[in-house]
Amino acid sequence: MKTIITGNIELIVNELRTGKVAAIPTETVYGLAANALDEIAVASVYEIKNRPKFNPIIVHIKDADSLRSYAEDIDEKVFELAGRFSPGPLTYVLRKRSIIPDIVTAGNEGVGLRISSHPVLKSLLDMTGFPLAAPSANMFGKVSPTSAREVMDDLNGKVSYILDGGNCEVGIESTVISFMDKVPVILRHGGVTREEIEEVIGYVETGNSKKILSPGMLESHYAPSKPLFITEDDITPEHLSKLDAGYLDLKKYADLKTAAVNLFSELRALDKSYCSVILCNLVENKGLGVAINDRLIRASSGNIKLEKGKPETSEVKHA
Ligand code: TXA
Ligand code: MG
Repeated sequence: MKTIITGNIELIVNELRTGKVAAIPTETVYGLAANALDEIAVASVYEIKNRPKFNPIIVHIKDADSLRSYAEDIDEKVFELAGRFSPGPLTYVLRKRSIIPDIVTAGNEGVGLRISSHPVLKSLLDMTGFPLAAPSANMFGKVSPTSAREVMDDLNGKVSYILDGGNCEVGIESTVISFMDKVPVILRHGGVTREEIEEVIGYVETGNSKKILSPGMLESHYAPSKPLFITEDDITPEHLSKLDAGYLDLKKYADLKTAAVNLFSELRALDKSYCSVILCNLVENKGLGVAINDRLIRASSGNIKLEKGKPETSEVKHA
């Protein structure tokens, strides 16, 4: 199969209408989309990505009013959040209506619904008339792509079209918040921070604090193919040359927002470069820093003390 990067939305609408899968832009990362109401099309998404069938897929819908078409018993807090953050990088896990096939939610009662702010995806949803199930457009376990070119690196030969919407403005995935329990729970940190959410609806749990995990948090995610080591030490040119290491330098960005935008593309670029390992420091663990550190820790092979020059712990985080 030949894979083409295109700006032609109508072409993609036709693909999706005939049950095919296409890569699409969102403001967070690129997605691998299929008609969410067509279970055979959704099954192809799992196959192409090599994604385990127990990991549910987010459904992209056109506006907050449509939440009611796909979910029931919706907490008023969801609409308060939607008023502030949707369209945007926030996904609500809500009790699904039967119109959503079980394969989309991996058999769970909750469905993840998101309203993206990307103008190209908005037009696409207006034109198809059906919602789009779309996980990130990387092969399972790899770093999410933030440009059409990066999607091509992963999915060349696996889809016919990649719809080009430019570079993603947020750069890390959406925050996933579940309303399946009395107290809302953040299942994945992302583009909207916990602090921002709590300003609107008050206290929320996090997956870690309550040991509730999004199925997708269980496995390897966001990993480059070269080992990435996290260090608390300052990283100097001497360290880099001694270890034949590339430096994922997030300090050079003016703020965490800019660091998030560039995080995955830098990781991909370092992965392609000549170094043997990648070194980085964590960022301050608040605001967007929580989501950035989460991605770094998942991508890493362990911690390193640079004076010793070899990994101190190589905790295996994933098989
Ligand atoms: O920004 C994003 O969220 C991107 C763009 C394409 O929208 N999508 C994305 O999808 O990151 P994915 O599949 O790579 O990650 C979705 C995460 C996974 O951790 C998954 O387990 C969780 O959301 N999730 C999706 N649906 C869920 C559900 N019904 N219940 C619990 N967790 C869910
Ligand atoms: Mg993903």
